[in-house]
Amino acid sequence: MREDIKEILFSEDEIRRRVKELGVQITSDYFGKNPLIIGVLKGCYVFLADLARSIELGCEIRFVTASSYGMATMTSGDVKIGVDFDFDIAGRDVILIEDILDSGVTLTALRAFISERKPATLKICTLLDKPARRKVQLSADYVGFECPDAFVVGYGLDYAERYRNLPFVAELKQEVYS
Ligand code: IMP
Ligand code: MG
Repeated sequence: MREDIKEILFSEDEIRRRVKELGVQITSDYFGKNPLIIGVLKGCYVFLADLARSIELGCEIRFVTASSYGMATMTSGDVKIGVDFDFDIAGRDVILIEDILDSGVTLTALRAFISERKPATLKICTLLDKPARRKVQLSADYVGFECPDAFVVGYGLDYAERYRNLPFVAELKQEVYS
């Protein structure tokens, strides 16, 4: 697995520190509230596991699935949202948790889906932001790191369902996916 990596972009230590800071910030921004945290599967699972443990609030944690990539490294633009709707969004303070904001297509679709259900507030938290690749205008309220325009894996992010278990975020060697 490690032989497929070109370069580590964000180390385990850096991620641990930054995720803690995000948790502290969310705890203070939502003081006295019970936010509804919605993780976007599958990429968010490592980030959310760590982030949630840094948020010192009573909160509800739910998941949705959203996919547009299939096995490719470019978005197809057609986002499929999957959700098990046994929970209410109306009137809730929703925080959407994503692994990476790339073209913005996935989060735009999800934001519209959630907004229609009338939350009190809706904010977006992403571990990584790749602003260079944006196709639609969208920015996150909480960003872990700005990411260079490279295909990255690890800490939940995959290529063809692999590399999610790497403890850091790394750029993959181009020959692995071309
Ligand atoms: P967007 O719709 O283009 O913003 O893409 C968002 C989704 O694409 C993320 O939730 C990731 O699952 C996936 N994605 C985008 N860039 C990368 C990357 O560099 N590595 C792994 N997955 C990525
Ligand atoms: Mg993905």
